[in-house]
Amino acid sequence: MREGSRIQLQIVRRESTEAPPYLQRILYETPDPNATVATALTDINKNPNQKDTEGNVVTPIGWECNCLQKKCGACAMLINNRPMLACDTKLSEYGKKGVIRVEPLKKFPVIRDLIVDRSILQENLKTIKAWLEEPVLLKDKQYDVAYEASRCLQCGCCLEICPNFYAGGTFAGTAALVPVSRLLAELPREEQKKLAKAYREHVFEGCGKSLACRKVCPAGIDVDKLLVNSNAMAIWKKQL
Ligand code: SF4
Ligand code: SF4
Ligand code: FES
Repeated sequence: MREGSRIQLQIVRRESTEAPPYLQRILYETPDPNATVATALTDINKNPNQKDTEGNVVTPIGWECNCLQKKCGACAMLINNRPMLACDTKLSEYGKKGVIRVEPLKKFPVIRDLIVDRSILQENLKTIKAWLEEPVLLKDKQYDVAYEASRCLQCGCCLEICPNFYAGGTFAGTAALVPVSRLLAELPREEQKKLAKAYREHVFEGCGKSLACRKVCPAGIDVDKLLVNSNAMAIWKKQL
């Protein structure tokens, strides 16, 4: 029979964007072998008498979640210094008495505790004009790209790890590459040309091709395949 977990959760907390951060340590124990970081945060927030290791009452921890099934990307945060989804990170992976440090993603402004403002992802897609004006009918060979790109959660983990992305810069990173690669494959030739120009400026020219983003993508998206396809179409003018 698989056992549960007993961990020390270390949470980097902050009351607001301007407030200084502080570290709160909480001991958490569960018999559930499948418990995740999201389970721990939910249970701690449910307990009005929860104390930290110094005996202080733990006020509700701000964090985002929705699906709890690795489908929406809302719960992305730094877990032991790696961008990950809280609902997909099992406590058992950190050993019976492990220490798990959770922090907000660092590339985005903190709103409170583990909640960050990721609106830059949508703003970048608006800048690139990455949307369809009209419905398109896919050809057989376009389904692969469409399916791969449709799995993107817009979680921001790829931007967190990317050495070339920073909010306010012109490089929009993999979170833009993925939806744009789908559109490049689907759009009629004239519209594809306009998008190709934006792709060159906001993705191709800023990307160092290290593919660190692929290693952290919680959806396991085949970033190199999409990058190769998009570069072929937008830069080398080849069609799928
Ligand atoms: S490409 Fe992966 S890591 Fe980046 S936003 Fe999409 S799902 Fe998240
Ligand atoms: S390949 Fe490297 S530089 Fe390009 S988006 Fe991924 S992490 Fe960033
Ligand atoms: S809550 Fe939706 S991915 Fe974690």
